[in-house]
Amino acid sequence: MTTIAALDTPAALVDVGRMQDNIARMQARMNELGVRFRPHVKTSKCLPVVQAQMAAGAQGITVSTLKEAGQFFDAGIRDILYAVSMAPARLPQALALRRRGCELKIITDSVGAAEAIASFGQAQGEGLEVWIEIDADGHRSGIPPEGEALLAVGRILHGAGMRLGGVMAHAGSSYDCSDPEALQRVAEQERRLTVQAAERLRAAGLPCPAVSVGSTPTALAATHLEGVTEVRAGVYVFFDLVMHNVGVCKVEDIALSVLTTVIGHQEEKGWAIVDAGWMAMSRDRGTQKQQRDFGYGLVCTESGEPIAGYVLGSANQEHGILHRADGVDDDIARRFPIGTRLRILPNHACATGAQHPVYQAVGADGEIEAWPRFYGW
Ligand SMILES: Cc1ncc(COP(=O)(O)O)c(C=O)c1O
Repeated sequence: MTTIAALDTPAALVDVGRMQDNIARMQARMNELGVRFRPHVKTSKCLPVVQAQMAAGAQGITVSTLKEAGQFFDAGIRDILYAVSMAPARLPQALALRRRGCELKIITDSVGAAEAIASFGQAQGEGLEVWIEIDADGHRSGIPPEGEALLAVGRILHGAGMRLGGVMAHAGSSYDCSDPEALQRVAEQERRLTVQAAERLRAAGLPCPAVSVGSTPTALAATHLEGVTEVRAGVYVFFDLVMHNVGVCKVEDIALSVLTTVIGHQEEKGWAIVDAGWMAMSRDRGTQKQQRDFGYGLVCTESGEPIAGYVLGSANQEHGILHRADGVDDDIARRFPIGTRLRILPNHACATGAQHPVYQAVGADGEIEAWPRFYGW
């Protein structure tokens, strides 16, 4: 049996029990709200994780690259939403997937891209399924639900024989919240504006079967989802310190961590050097602007207990610097001798996971299984 003790460091650990609890919690919430759940699999890009999500009741997946779509389609998942605006140059790749039997849905939020999709689809004799992205909070991309562009895009696609599959929005501004009332307001705004867009399309005689919303915070904060048919969420599967600061998980829910080894000290500075630098943790400093800044991650024992008084305060490529917090006067070299193994909880699970080619999945009995992850485009 392989256990943590046999692993080389740095290594990305997945606590399978915590992950299963996170999956069960989200799926139960979706069932209560009466919507389908389409997890965003960009967080893990890992088949065993996604299989666990499907086994719990997920229907279809969301991906952030066509490469992910291809990998998960090859593994038997057919219903796939590619939730990044369709670049015209990638249309042949999308068409190839559809022709292999993938029920791929692509998205657009502009007249220009809609025209490119429509003319490509017509030239290929293929009614591509397209969803329109709605801007529900000014956070990133999408068409305003009340503007003329929405109907223009709908008419271009429908008129050219493309399948208008629905509307989708992602309220990324939820990541800036830290109290339940603000989260509920963002969730309700995401729902209301996306449903409004769907109703406008339908009133104009255009089809709009799917109404898709979601981010982890809004999915967990929504009190009702009238008019919505499905929710997407991704990072909930592992959770992370950013989500902890947003207020949607506890530290004990975080399923991803980086196993690291103490490799040196600067005793007078109160530093221990570990072999998890930003190559292992990622450069993501997502908690910097939040209510609690966790530096490059929360320091825990090898078995996962948080250690107060120390922070992974800075990171070079392969060196992490564990700083003693003000007011702590331990002898750091004695506290963390060379060879001590620690776990660091990440700021942003999607970014930290992406630094590793494989997850080391830790089962309830401590046995480790290697779970490869996909990457690239
Ligand atoms: C389009 C889209 N949908 C859903 C999600 C999932 O959000 P979260 O990771 O907060 O669950 C994302 C995340 O970036 C996204 O871009």
